[in-house]
Amino acid sequence: GAGLVEVAFKVNGERRKLSIDPRVTLLDALRERLQLTGTKKGCDRGQCGACTVHVDDRRVLSCLTLAATLQGKEVTTIEGIADGDELHPVQRAFIDHDGFQCGFCTSGQIMSAVKIVEEPAVRTDDQIREAMSGNICRCGAYPNILEAIKQAKGGER
Ligand code: FES
Repeated sequence: GAGLVEVAFKVNGERRKLSIDPRVTLLDALRERLQLTGTKKGCDRGQCGACTVHVDDRRVLSCLTLAATLQGKEVTTIEGIADGDELHPVQRAFIDHDGFQCGFCTSGQIMSAVKIVEEPAVRTDDQIREAMSGNICRCGAYPNILEAIKQAKGGER
Protein backbone atom coordinates (compact mmCIF):
# COMPACT_ATOMS: atom_id res chain seq x y z
CA GLY A 1 0.00 0.00 0.00
CA ALA A 2 0.89 3.65 -0.15
CA GLY A 3 3.75 4.68 2.06
CA LEU A 4 4.70 1.17 3.08
CA VAL A 5 8.21 -0.20 2.79
CA GLU A 6 9.36 -3.78 2.41
CA VAL A 7 11.91 -5.07 4.86
CA ALA A 8 13.36 -8.56 5.18
CA PHE A 9 15.33 -9.67 8.21
CA LYS A 10 15.87 -12.72 10.37
CA VAL A 11 14.15 -13.09 13.69
CA ASN A 12 15.40 -15.90 15.93
CA GLY A 13 16.92 -17.56 12.88
CA GLU A 14 13.81 -17.37 10.71
CA ARG A 15 13.51 -15.18 7.63
CA ARG A 16 10.68 -12.67 7.98
CA LYS A 17 9.43 -10.18 5.44
CA LEU A 18 7.20 -7.27 6.37
CA SER A 19 5.44 -4.52 4.53
CA ILE A 20 5.44 -1.74 7.07
CA ASP A 21 5.04 1.93 7.71
CA PRO A 22 8.61 3.30 7.91
CA ARG A 23 7.79 4.82 11.31
CA VAL A 24 7.01 1.47 12.96
CA THR A 25 9.43 0.52 15.70
CA LEU A 26 11.05 -2.88 15.94
CA LEU A 27 9.19 -3.27 19.25
CA ASP A 28 5.78 -2.85 17.64
CA ALA A 29 6.77 -4.99 14.66
CA LEU A 30 7.81 -7.82 16.98
CA ARG A 31 4.75 -7.62 19.21
CA GLU A 32 2.01 -6.72 16.75
CA ARG A 33 3.17 -8.15 13.45
CA LEU A 34 5.22 -11.15 14.49
CA GLN A 35 3.32 -12.05 17.70
CA LEU A 36 6.57 -12.13 19.68
CA THR A 37 5.18 -10.62 22.85
CA GLY A 38 8.00 -11.67 25.17
CA THR A 39 9.63 -8.32 24.42
CA LYS A 40 7.86 -5.79 26.64
CA LYS A 41 6.83 -2.20 26.13
CA GLY A 42 7.57 -0.22 29.25
CA CYS A 43 8.27 3.46 28.60
CA ASP A 44 8.40 3.29 24.76
CA ARG A 45 11.03 6.05 24.82
CA GLY A 46 14.38 4.53 25.62
CA GLN A 47 14.39 4.87 29.38
CA CYS A 48 13.54 1.49 30.92
CA GLY A 49 15.24 -1.32 28.96
CA ALA A 50 12.16 -3.58 29.00
CA CYS A 51 12.27 -3.77 25.20
CA THR A 52 15.93 -4.88 24.90
CA VAL A 53 16.69 -7.31 22.07
CA HIS A 54 19.81 -8.18 20.08
CA VAL A 55 20.47 -6.95 16.55
CA ASP A 56 23.49 -8.65 14.98
CA ASP A 57 24.77 -9.51 18.46
CA ARG A 58 24.47 -6.04 19.96
CA ARG A 59 21.96 -4.98 22.59
CA VAL A 60 19.44 -2.49 21.25
CA LEU A 61 16.33 -0.83 22.60
CA SER A 62 13.67 -2.02 20.18
CA CYS A 63 11.42 0.96 21.02
CA LEU A 64 14.07 3.30 19.58
CA THR A 65 14.86 1.19 16.51
CA LEU A 66 12.84 1.53 13.34
CA ALA A 67 12.02 -1.86 11.86
CA ALA A 68 12.58 -0.49 8.35
CA THR A 69 16.29 0.02 9.12
CA LEU A 70 16.87 -3.69 9.71
CA GLN A 71 17.08 -4.96 6.15
CA GLY A 72 19.35 -8.03 6.18
CA LYS A 73 19.96 -7.91 9.93
CA GLU A 74 19.55 -10.68 12.50
CA VAL A 75 17.27 -9.99 15.42
CA THR A 76 17.20 -12.17 18.52
CA THR A 77 14.47 -11.90 21.13
CA ILE A 78 13.84 -13.63 24.44
CA GLU A 79 11.93 -16.31 22.52
CA GLY A 80 15.12 -17.20 20.63
CA ILE A 81 17.79 -17.69 23.29
CA ALA A 82 16.87 -21.10 24.75
CA ASP A 83 18.26 -24.16 23.01
CA GLY A 84 15.09 -26.19 22.44
CA ASP A 85 13.89 -27.24 25.91
CA GLU A 86 17.22 -26.25 27.44
CA LEU A 87 17.11 -22.78 29.01
CA HIS A 88 19.91 -20.36 28.25
CA PRO A 89 22.35 -20.32 31.22
CA VAL A 90 21.28 -16.73 31.96
CA GLN A 91 17.61 -17.77 32.10
CA ARG A 92 18.49 -20.58 34.49
CA ALA A 93 20.55 -18.22 36.64
CA PHE A 94 17.65 -15.76 36.92
CA ILE A 95 15.44 -18.61 38.15
CA ASP A 96 18.09 -19.90 40.57
CA HIS A 97 18.53 -16.44 42.11
CA ASP A 98 14.93 -15.17 41.95
CA GLY A 99 16.07 -12.45 39.56
CA PHE A 100 12.52 -11.19 39.04
CA GLN A 101 9.38 -10.33 40.96
CA CYS A 102 6.54 -9.08 38.77
CA GLY A 103 8.46 -10.23 35.68
CA PHE A 104 7.67 -7.27 33.48
CA CYS A 105 11.28 -6.14 33.04
CA THR A 106 12.68 -9.68 32.99
CA SER A 107 13.02 -10.39 29.29
CA GLY A 108 14.85 -7.09 28.81
CA GLN A 109 17.04 -7.78 31.85
CA ILE A 110 17.91 -11.22 30.48
CA MET A 111 18.63 -9.98 26.95
CA SER A 112 20.93 -7.34 28.40
CA ALA A 113 22.54 -9.80 30.79
CA VAL A 114 23.30 -12.29 27.99
CA LYS A 115 25.59 -9.68 26.39
CA ILE A 116 27.14 -8.68 29.73
CA VAL A 117 27.96 -12.30 30.46
CA GLU A 118 29.75 -12.52 27.09
CA GLU A 119 31.69 -9.29 27.74
CA PRO A 120 35.05 -10.09 29.37
CA ALA A 121 35.75 -6.43 30.23
CA VAL A 122 32.77 -6.40 32.59
CA ARG A 123 33.93 -8.25 35.70
CA THR A 124 33.34 -6.52 39.03
CA ASP A 125 29.99 -5.99 40.73
CA ASP A 126 30.22 -2.27 39.95
CA GLN A 127 31.00 -2.92 36.30
CA ILE A 128 28.04 -5.29 36.05
CA ARG A 129 25.73 -2.75 37.74
CA GLU A 130 26.94 -0.02 35.40
CA ALA A 131 26.52 -2.22 32.31
CA MET A 132 22.99 -3.12 33.44
CA SER A 133 22.02 0.41 34.43
CA GLY A 134 19.79 0.87 31.38
CA ASN A 135 17.47 -1.88 32.62
CA ILE A 136 15.12 -0.58 35.28
CA CYS A 137 13.39 -2.95 37.72
CA ARG A 138 10.52 -1.32 39.56
CA CYS A 139 10.40 -4.17 42.06
CA GLY A 140 14.03 -3.58 43.03
CA ALA A 141 15.27 -7.09 42.31
CA TYR A 142 18.73 -5.68 41.53
CA PRO A 143 20.71 -7.69 44.14
CA ASN A 144 19.24 -10.95 42.82
CA ILE A 145 19.81 -9.92 39.21
CA LEU A 146 23.46 -9.19 40.06
CA GLU A 147 23.85 -12.62 41.67
CA ALA A 148 22.24 -14.26 38.64
CA ILE A 149 24.65 -12.54 36.26
CA LYS A 150 27.61 -13.50 38.42
CA GLN A 151 26.48 -17.13 38.37
CA ALA A 152 26.09 -17.07 34.59
CA LYS A 153 29.50 -15.44 34.19
CA GLY A 154 31.14 -17.98 36.44
CA GLY A 155 29.55 -20.77 34.47
CA GLU A 156 28.25 -22.27 37.73
CA ARG A 157 25.03 -24.18 37.73
FE1 FES B 1 12.08 0.70 25.26
FE2 FES B 1 11.39 1.43 27.75
S1 FES B 1 10.18 0.38 26.24
S2 FES B 1 13.37 1.52 26.81
